[in-house]
Amino acid sequence: MILTVQLLLLLTLSLRTDGYNEYTVGECVFSAALTDVEFIVSYYFNKDPYVRFNSTVGEYVGYTEYGVKNAERLNKGPELQRIIGERDRYCTPNIQTFSSHILVKSVEPKIRLRSEKQASGDHPAMLMCSAYDFYPPAIDVYWLRNGQKVTGDVTSTGEMADGDWYYQIHSHLEYTPKSGEKISCVVEHTSFKKPIITDWDPSLSESDRNKIAIGASGLVLGIVLSAAGFIYYKKKSTGRILVPN
Ligand SMILES: *[C@@H]1O[C@H](CO)[C@@H](O)[C@H](O)[C@H]1NC(C)=O
Repeated sequence: MILTVQLLLLLTLSLRTDGYNEYTVGECVFSAALTDVEFIVSYYFNKDPYVRFNSTVGEYVGYTEYGVKNAERLNKGPELQRIIGERDRYCTPNIQTFSSHILVKSVEPKIRLRSEKQASGDHPAMLMCSAYDFYPPAIDVYWLRNGQKVTGDVTSTGEMADGDWYYQIHSHLEYTPKSGEKISCVVEHTSFKKPIITDWDPSLSESDRNKIAIGASGLVLGIVLSAAGFIYYKKKSTGRILVPN
């Protein structure tokens, strides 16, 4: 589980009327154990990054002609030494602050796995794995099919704010059921010590359970009414005196 915290916005120049936006984003990216800290500074023009410093790479890398030129210039000058030091100067103390103020307030998600659509004809089945009421928003929800991570046919809503500091997310898996396979939803969140794996039980989906419950109730009701009717009839008929005519 990787946490990304955008801890600073170095510079934003916006000229909205003409649709130009030049901005710089600094990020500290770190694992849930607060190790493997990476410091990233990206320079964007509109939505495209054109030059980026990544502390793991250790130098600036350009993505456009202008970006490459700037990366060369920055990598030669004293700027490079300064930015290399930013990981320890900037990220390390801020991650500590983040940890002691935000991560200690983490709240476990409630996980639900259900069938959204059953397979019919050539249409695949769909499962939905939901996590509700968790904090902070950083979360990983993914699927395992026979122990292998599923890469395709998965769509996710992304973390959605409930508006009360809690978040929810829904991941959908489309698949063609095969007998004997095992499908699981995995949720990783900073509130969990280890990933929570929920196995899909195809034999009893919730809607099936409801149908069975309704059917069984109807059957019981029918039996009770028939029995009552039968007893009533018996009582009536034994109480009657048959007079031959
Ligand atoms: C930084 O560089 C490392 C090594 O190339 C890479 O694994 C990592 O994904 C990069 N981080 C970002 C946020 O691009």
